[in-house]
Amino acid sequence: MSAITFDPLDPQLLAAPQIVFERLRNEAPLLKTVVGGQTVRLVSRYADVARIISDPSARMNPPDSDAPAVYGDGPAAALWRSAISMMDPPQHTLARRVIARPFSHRRVEQMRSMVADIVNETFSQLPSNQLEVVNDLALKVPMQVICKFLGIPAEDWPSLQAWTSDFLHIFLPNVGGAEEIARVQQASQNFIDYFGAMIDARIAEPRGDMTSDFAALVDKENGISRIGLIGALRGLLTAGFETTAATISAAFLGFAQQPEQLTLLRQNPELIPGAVDELLRWETPVQVMVRYLGRDIELDGGSLQAGTACWLLLGSANHDPRHYRHPDKLDVSRTATDHHAFGGGRHFCVGAYLARLELQLVLQQISQRYRRIELQCESAARRGNFQFRSIETLPVALAS
Ligand code: HEM
Repeated sequence: MSAITFDPLDPQLLAAPQIVFERLRNEAPLLKTVVGGQTVRLVSRYADVARIISDPSARMNPPDSDAPAVYGDGPAAALWRSAISMMDPPQHTLARRVIARPFSHRRVEQMRSMVADIVNETFSQLPSNQLEVVNDLALKVPMQVICKFLGIPAEDWPSLQAWTSDFLHIFLPNVGGAEEIARVQQASQNFIDYFGAMIDARIAEPRGDMTSDFAALVDKENGISRIGLIGALRGLLTAGFETTAATISAAFLGFAQQPEQLTLLRQNPELIPGAVDELLRWETPVQVMVRYLGRDIELDGGSLQAGTACWLLLGSANHDPRHYRHPDKLDVSRTATDHHAFGGGRHFCVGAYLARLELQLVLQQISQRYRRIELQCESAARRGNFQFRSIETLPVALAS
C-alpha cells in the first residue's frame, strides 16, 4: 500500500479530505509528518482528539515562543499575541473573562429578535427560484449579525470580508510561503488601523454597542489593553462569520445531495436544533486546531511526548466510524452534540451559542420556504484554505 502523503495545499485534499482522513485513522492515527518545515503529528481519531483538546496541560504555543517566527515583529505577530484563540494562561484566562461575557446564553437570548429580523429580512430579499448561496445569503447573515453586535457600519463590510479571507491564513504559518505571509501582514495592519480608530472613537463618544462596552474597559483594572481589544474585535469578527457562513452553505449542499433530509426536517421542525449540530459535525468548518502537548500522553493510536506539536484533525474526528454510525451521511435525526466543530477545553468556541441560534433560524427559513434544492453546478467549489473549510460559490435552483 502507498505511503500516505499529506499536503494541506493539495486541491484533491481540499476537495475530498475524508479520503485521506480515513487512511490516516486506519493506518497511521498519529502520523508524524513535516508541514511547512515543522514536524507535527496528525491526530485523526475521535477519541485521541477528545483527549488532547480537553487536556489542561496542552498549550497553543510551543515552549519559549509567543508568535511564529515567520511573522517577525510585524502586525501579524502583534495580532497573534492579542488573539485569545492563540493565548495560553494566565493571559487567556483574563482575556476570555472580558470577551466571553456578552456571548453568554442569557445575553445572546436578549438579542434573539434582532438576529431573527436579520435572518427573515435576508431571506425575504432573495429571488424565489434560484440563488448563489454563498454570496447572496450565507456570508450576509453572519456578517450582518456580528457587525450589528459590534456596531460596524454596512459600508465597511466588503473591506472587512476581504481582509478576513487573507487573514485566515495566519493560523498555520509556513504552509503557504512568502506571498501568503505578506498578505497576512497587510490584512493584520488593516485590522489594527480599522479597529484602533473605532476604539478611539468609542472611548471619545460611546454609542451603546458592544464595542463601546469593551472600550470602556480599556486599561482599566480587570479590563483589557488597547491592542488586546483590537485583537479581540478582530477575533470576534473573523471567527464569527466565515465559519457560520460555511455551515449555511453546507446546509444547502447537504439538502441538495440528500433531499430526503430536507423533507424530514420540513415534516419534523423539532429536529432543527439537532440538525444544526449534525451540519456542524458533517461539514466541520474549522478542520484543524494546533496544540502543543504539556505532558507525555497515552492515546488510542499510540503514545506522544510532552512538547509534541499536534494537528488535531477535527474534521476527521467528526467522521470517525469508531464514534459515529455512518459518519459520512448527513442525518438530521442524529442528536450528537459531542462533535468537535467548536473545538474544546478552555478554548471552546466563545460564539457557539450565537452560531447555533443563527443556524437554527436559518434552517427554519430553509425548511419553511423550500421543498426542493437542486445544485446548478457539478460539485461545490472549495476555497483554498485547508484549516477553514468553506465553499466558494454554490448556485442552486429552488422549488417552494
Ligand atoms: C459555525 C460557527 C462557528 C464554528 C464552527 C466555530 C468554531 C470554533 C473553533 C473550532 C474554535 C477553536 C476552539 C479550540 O481551539 O479548541 C473557536 C474559537 C473561538 N470562536 Fe468560534 N466558531 C463559530 C462561530 C463563532 C462566532 C459566531 C463567534 C463570535 C461571535 C466565535 C468566536 C470565537 C472565539 C472568540 C474563539 C476563541 C476562543 C478561545 O480561544 O478561548 N465563533 N470557534
